[in-house]
Amino acid sequence: QVDKPRYRIGFSQCTGNDDWRKNMLVEMKRELFYHPDMQLLYKDAADDSKRQISQIQELLAENIDILLVSPNEAIPLAPVITAVYRKGIPVIILDRKAATDSFTAYIGGDNYNIGKLAGEYIAGLLGTKGRVVEVTGLKGSSPTIERSQGLHDALSQHPGLQLTASLEGNWVAGKTQEVAARNKALLQQADVVFAQNDVMAYGMYRYCQANALPHIRFIGVDASPYPDAGIDLVARGILSASLLYPSGGKEAISMAADILSGKKVPRNTLLQTVLIDSSNVKLMRLQIDKIQVQHQEIEQQQSLLQEQRRQYQDQQHLLRIVVTT
Ligand code: FRU
Repeated sequence: QVDKPRYRIGFSQCTGNDDWRKNMLVEMKRELFYHPDMQLLYKDAADDSKRQISQIQELLAENIDILLVSPNEAIPLAPVITAVYRKGIPVIILDRKAATDSFTAYIGGDNYNIGKLAGEYIAGLLGTKGRVVEVTGLKGSSPTIERSQGLHDALSQHPGLQLTASLEGNWVAGKTQEVAARNKALLQQADVVFAQNDVMAYGMYRYCQANALPHIRFIGVDASPYPDAGIDLVARGILSASLLYPSGGKEAISMAADILSGKKVPRNTLLQTVLIDSSNVKLMRLQIDKIQVQHQEIEQQQSLLQEQRRQYQDQQHLLRIVVTT
């Protein structure tokens, strides 16, 4: 049969509960259309490293041919990833890194550059003087460290720009609003908040709106293409800017296919970023809408094709019955 999957792709996602990761899965599924020999086994760890470790073990027990993993935190996930790799199963690490060298390939955005571009953009907004508050992701996940480093390096080129606080928002809006409430006095003095993702930037914005702090400007990361996500928030003037963080979903599936067919793949694939603000957000939106329409057309054609294949197979089957009876 033409459509029967030959390969099992295990995907361990640290959380599925946000726009950025939903988009990653959409991209993966789209790419999977081109690989009917691959079947995706998906597990969502809901921000819990322990759960992610046991889910990877479950995937292993389901005889996966390759593991895709976006580790919640770098250190706790390292041993289980190492163990999978040592069993001879290829491992592609996505977006967040693990504290191990035991993997086949890494695909992710350029997090250091994201922080650096944000810092340079802030310098452009504020000029020679100003106060900046950073809101970071989960302490143990690698983009937190890399985005911070980039921001700090960029701001250190501008002695008049002061980084007055680094608040831990753990990538989510709830925790961000909690730390905002504990640091209201500090926010009163701030000119810009750089949050390491748009979810936290929007959380901060809502807190500041509700608490009479209308003077602050907000910058986020991700620029996901959904209502109330990054691009939409920039278009509505809620965020001054967002840095595009490509999900790598499409690249991960096509790389998995390459690995399974014995091709050599690069050890590190760094996906590029771009800063989106009021000057280019319209153009970005137009392009995204256009791509969306193209994808819908492709998906329609693919399901038609599948339907035709199915009919063809049924006819072949009938023919065989007729011939043999
Ligand atoms: C989504 C997310 C993104 C962020 C990425 C970092 O779960 O928090 O918003 O850019 O993870 O790994």
